[in-house]
Amino acid sequence: MSQIIIGVVGAGTMGEGIAQVAAMSNHKVCLVDLNESVLSKAKSNHEKIISRLVEKEKITQSKSLEVLKNITYSSDFNTLKDSDLVIEAIVEKLEVKHNVFRELEKIVSKDCVLASNTSSLSIASIGSVLQNSDRIIGVHFFNPAPLMPLVEIVPGLQTSKFVLDNAYSLIKSWGKLPVIAKDTPGFIVNRVARPFYGEALRIYEEGIADFATIDWAMTEIGGFKMGPFTLMDYIGNDVNYAVTESVFTSFYYDPRFKPSFTQKRHFEAGFYGRKSGRGYYDYSNNVEKPSPIKDYKIGNYIFNRILSMLVNEAYDALFMNVASKEDLETAMTKGVNYPKGLFEWSEEIGLDNILNTLKDLFEEYGEDRYRPNPLLKRVLQD
Ligand SMILES: NC(=O)c1ccc[n+]([C@@H]2O[C@H](COP(=O)([O-])OP(=O)(O)OC[C@H]3O[C@@H](n4cnc5c(N)ncnc54)[C@H](O)[C@@H]3O)[C@@H](O)[C@H]2O)c1
Repeated sequence: MSQIIIGVVGAGTMGEGIAQVAAMSNHKVCLVDLNESVLSKAKSNHEKIISRLVEKEKITQSKSLEVLKNITYSSDFNTLKDSDLVIEAIVEKLEVKHNVFRELEKIVSKDCVLASNTSSLSIASIGSVLQNSDRIIGVHFFNPAPLMPLVEIVPGLQTSKFVLDNAYSLIKSWGKLPVIAKDTPGFIVNRVARPFYGEALRIYEEGIADFATIDWAMTEIGGFKMGPFTLMDYIGNDVNYAVTESVFTSFYYDPRFKPSFTQKRHFEAGFYGRKSGRGYYDYSNNVEKPSPIKDYKIGNYIFNRILSMLVNEAYDALFMNVASKEDLETAMTKGVNYPKGLFEWSEEIGLDNILNTLKDLFEEYGEDRYRPNPLLKRVLQD
């Protein structure tokens, strides 16, 4: 595979990480960004990260020199001309991506595969500007790309099977866990994980529990590494709110994905989370984190409600052929570190219990948001 040359456009958070992953797998990598200062920051970050890997004895000194030598940094798109695969990781704006892909097609060979790391735009729409559109594909890495094993591979309507198969095996050869996702809003993870945030916010808005108690229920009872509010503060409420709104509008306003005013107000107030010093929690020095109310009756209610909504979403993704059951399990355990796959978890708890929770919520609220997925009902009838 070492002869395959990889181009990466955009040297920000994701492009920098993806370039590192490809260079570690012995590829020559051309990293391109219009902004010279972003390029030098990426270069110095690579040097720091790679030397830390040597210190930790994860790689040898000679491997580290090879990896750094593999990457060239440039603001000139023409350096991408010999690439076999170009991965675009620039700003999430369709028009800007279109301009980049039009430009790329003029530079690279006719066999070069063109990939996008988009999290929310459709691959069909990105590829629509290409003359040879069967070479477009989504390769959705997670942040930080060198550490997160999951990559969602997303063929657009135009993508050829050859391009899909090759992208899949190449990403696998990089030590990643590729899963195949249909070109639908949020792909797998950003779709199935929505209730983790949305239902937690809803429970808070109804006054059932405060942020700390909901986080406690999901970590202590559910075994999640972080509770929803801690996680949203970590991701950033600006980023998380934007994804929620994009999934909601892309699903033609399906009430399952309705954003919450609580999150919108936090976003509007600039309460983004850790990075702004305040989100659902206050991160200023000497401010103690609020204590949860460790009431197991409320805690179990919260956990069951959120988990049932997550399982319903996983069933919906399977029902709508977004991905295979196996890939859905891999995506949620490796992309967002859920302690268990949602299908495995539902079997442990009992799918009938999940269905009953959903039916109770649907009956109580009369909202379409809580409608149990037909596949979930069918599986129980079989
Ligand atoms: N940040 C995440 O957690 C994350 C995770 C998965 C996917 N994504 C997706 O990856 C893509 C990049 O996200 P990011 O967070 O790395 O963004 P970023 O803002 O950190 O980096 C984007 C880079 O693209 C460069 N750029 C903008 N227009 C350009 C152009 N025309 N030509 C060349 N370079 C250009 C900018 O200078 C910037 O350095 C987006 O599509 C995003 O949706 C982001």
